[in-house]
Amino acid sequence: MINKKILLIVGSLRKDSFNKQLAIFIQEFLNQYVSTEILDYKELPLFNQDIEFPTPQIVKEIREKFALADVIWFFTPEYNGHVSGVLKNLLDWLSRPISQNEFGIPNTTFNKPITMSGAAGKMKSIGSIKNLKEISSAMKMIPIDIDEVGIALSPESFQTNKLNLTNDDKNRLLNQAKALLSYINNLVKYD
Ligand SMILES: Cc1cc2nc3c(=O)[nH]c(=O)nc-3n(C[C@H](O)[C@H](O)[C@H](O)COP(=O)(O)O)c2cc1C
Repeated sequence: MINKKILLIVGSLRKDSFNKQLAIFIQEFLNQYVSTEILDYKELPLFNQDIEFPTPQIVKEIREKFALADVIWFFTPEYNGHVSGVLKNLLDWLSRPISQNEFGIPNTTFNKPITMSGAAGKMKSIGSIKNLKEISSAMKMIPIDIDEVGIALSPESFQTNKLNLTNDDKNRLLNQAKALLSYINNLVKYD
């Protein structure tokens, strides 16, 4: 077990979200090697500068989890070619200064290593992964140089609400996870 933490962020609040099921599939694999957590942000309010300060308690807690994570792994659905509104709302909160007297990108997101995957309709989340790269780049997060995996949900998945991964999907996802573990292993300092 490596003393590193991966925060998994799902861009859907839906109880049976396929992206959450994807995150759980990856979490079960990663938990053999590192600690992980799926971020719960369903109580996060809509961003509004009128309520930005004093910082809402839930925003403080999410920032702390973000700051303590060594890597963030996003699981994004695709909404009209882009990320979902709830994920954009979370990112907008995280992009803001921590106190009223500070300006610019906060330390919590600056240089934060990230990777991403997504499950969507026939577009395989290609558009939302591209969009997430643009937003995260504006926030100065750093995408790790590994292949991102987009999954086209099968008709059976939509009928049963259960994620139906093909063997090829599973292999591509596990390869992404293994590449991430290699990256993390290189972060470990040995005395
Ligand atoms: C508002 C909305 C817009 C969508 N737009 C797209 C799209 O542009 N491309 C696509 O492949 N799927 C699209 N979908 C399908 C979703 O990506 C798919 O239902 C996905 O499973 C939702 O994620 P979740 O199961 O994690 O909630 C859209 C779904 C919704 C609700």
